[in-house]
Amino acid sequence: MKILIIGSKGMLGTDIVSEISKTENEVIGWDISDIDITKEEDMSKIEKESPSIIINCAAYTDVDKAEEERERCCSINVTGVKNLVDICKKLNIPLIQISTDYVFNGEKEGYDEDNKKNPINSYGQTKAEGEDLIIDNLKKYYIIRTAWLFGKNGKNFVETMLKLFKEKEEIKVVDDQVGCPTYTKDLAKAIINLIEKDYGIYHITNSGKCSWFEFAEEIKRLTTSNCIIHPCKTKEFPRPAKRPKFSILNNNKIENLQDWKDSLQEYLKI
Ligand SMILES: NC(=O)c1ccc[n+]([C@@H]2O[C@H](COP(=O)([O-])OP(=O)(O)OC[C@H]3O[C@@H](n4cnc5c(N)ncnc54)[C@H](OP(=O)(O)O)[C@@H]3O)[C@@H](O)[C@H]2O)c1
Repeated sequence: MKILIIGSKGMLGTDIVSEISKTENEVIGWDISDIDITKEEDMSKIEKESPSIIINCAAYTDVDKAEEERERCCSINVTGVKNLVDICKKLNIPLIQISTDYVFNGEKEGYDEDNKKNPINSYGQTKAEGEDLIIDNLKKYYIIRTAWLFGKNGKNFVETMLKLFKEKEEIKVVDDQVGCPTYTKDLAKAIINLIEKDYGIYHITNSGKCSWFEFAEEIKRLTTSNCIIHPCKTKEFPRPAKRPKFSILNNNKIENLQDWKDSLQEYLKI
């Protein structure tokens, strides 16, 4: 198979390219310097390459900035996805789209794949619209919702904590948002395994759950830092975009991935 990864220099895209390179499949990695998914005219590049499947990891991912840059966010997460839908339809190939827990409002303690979407911020709304375009227009698709990503090729919570542990003696971290940290390397492997399975919506995260405070405490334990972490509430740290309280995605359709604590330990060793 000839697999085209778009967003190949992002945190998840880099690990997907690296994991597919270990298989017998041919992999092509494109990022913004190779293709701009918001430009319809760029889709002819895909046609020329003639891939067997596209994995779209390209997205507008700055959740807070999306509140003021809604148009740009919409252009990448909605128009960009529409362009990919059109080319996949034309070439009759499947599209794998990476989506998010933010398509839900976070009021429920665990979401199933078929639960109704009800996003509470601009980023979530555009990701939900992107999903709908795929569901309404394609038969061959995989929508993969994931959450709380950490990996070696992008900005993430683990790196933020490691930096803060060096700079500060005490920090505050919220304990009233719960989710499941997910290692991009584990997710990349799970996505490759999915290609043989039935089309549809999948939830893929590592196993287990925690609050951001518990996540920070585990990073501290594994790195033997002396920084003191105080639990606090979301309302003490107002941010431009509302955050879901519960970000747990029930992984009902695939075998469970390893516990996030084991993945974190692995990640911190590299
Ligand atoms: N990070 C998380 O915690 C998280 C959680 C749940 C779901 N997700 C989803 O997982 C996917 C991957 O996330 P990530 O954190 O790996 O993202 P990322 O690191 O922000 O990578 C996205 C990549 O897409 C590129 N890109 C942006 N606009 C583009 C365009 N118009 N055309 C082509 N490429 C473009 C970016 O380039 P520039 O850097 O130059 O803009 C970047 O290399 C996204 O769909 C995201 O919504 C992420």
